[in-house]
Amino acid sequence: MTMRNDPCWCGSGKKYKKCHEAFDRTLMDLKKKGCKVPTHKMIKSEEDMKWIREAAKVNNGALDLVQSKIKAGMTTNEIDKMVHDYTIEHGGIPACLGYEGFPKSCCTSINDQVCHGIPDDTVLEDGDIVNVDCTTIVNGHYADASRMFCIGKVSPAAKKLVDVTKECLEAGIAAVKPWGHLGDVGAAIQEIAHANGYSVVLDYCGHGVGNDFHEDPMVQHVGTRGTGIILAPGMVFTIEPMINEGVCSLFIDADNDWTSYTDDGKLSAQWEHTIAVHDDGVEIIAW
Ligand code: MF3
Ligand code: CO
Ligand code: CO
Repeated sequence: MTMRNDPCWCGSGKKYKKCHEAFDRTLMDLKKKGCKVPTHKMIKSEEDMKWIREAAKVNNGALDLVQSKIKAGMTTNEIDKMVHDYTIEHGGIPACLGYEGFPKSCCTSINDQVCHGIPDDTVLEDGDIVNVDCTTIVNGHYADASRMFCIGKVSPAAKKLVDVTKECLEAGIAAVKPWGHLGDVGAAIQEIAHANGYSVVLDYCGHGVGNDFHEDPMVQHVGTRGTGIILAPGMVFTIEPMINEGVCSLFIDADNDWTSYTDDGKLSAQWEHTIAVHDDGVEIIAW
């Protein structure tokens, strides 16, 4: 139990009564009403936020660089090298490199690859859609984002999947309200996906992020409004819907134990942002 004149648990240095006392009371009331509430570990301090934003600056820059260079004829290894070198040169560490044995600095997932594609000698071809997913560490803090790229002239169907998936992410972000529910996010995403005849991947989720790569809570891309954990100011998490043209089921490459593919070989797309919840709304930190 924090005493009112003690330093706040959030690390601000302020007295508890001037900092998170009212916040804790609100959470306690919501809990009494039967809501799931975040733990203090899920609430970032201002100092954490500052470093997460620094990580995001490098991460956004790396993805901007990829965006400016990516084209048909390029290998995914070349994209990986761009991300790696940019990140290091700007004072960051590529979080993917060596993470649970992952061998490269980013994920590059093409066409029917759902996620965790490993950069290699594969050449990007006209008509491909490819996701590049980067995570950067600065001073122990993480920012995570991914974007889709259309290589040359892609089919109208591929373009639509890419665009609708972005719309899903944006609707998910728009559903984030301080003191709202996490289920609102998944509900918004699934409605748009299903209205377009697409399926939502259930095997991978967004996640808390910032002081580690993958933290609580787990952010599902389907859900029911008014359910799920309360979105309290100070929470930082990713929303990263993977949307499939066909079935949502997938399989993992038996050779590398990482890359997932749609079961039916149809296309999959993904966009990911890192966002923060504040008293007055949502901040997009990494994109
Ligand atoms: N960046 C991915 C995510 O959005 C995780 C990639 S883990 C890796 O959570 F090891 F494959 F890089
Ligand atoms: Co992520
Ligand atoms: Co990511």
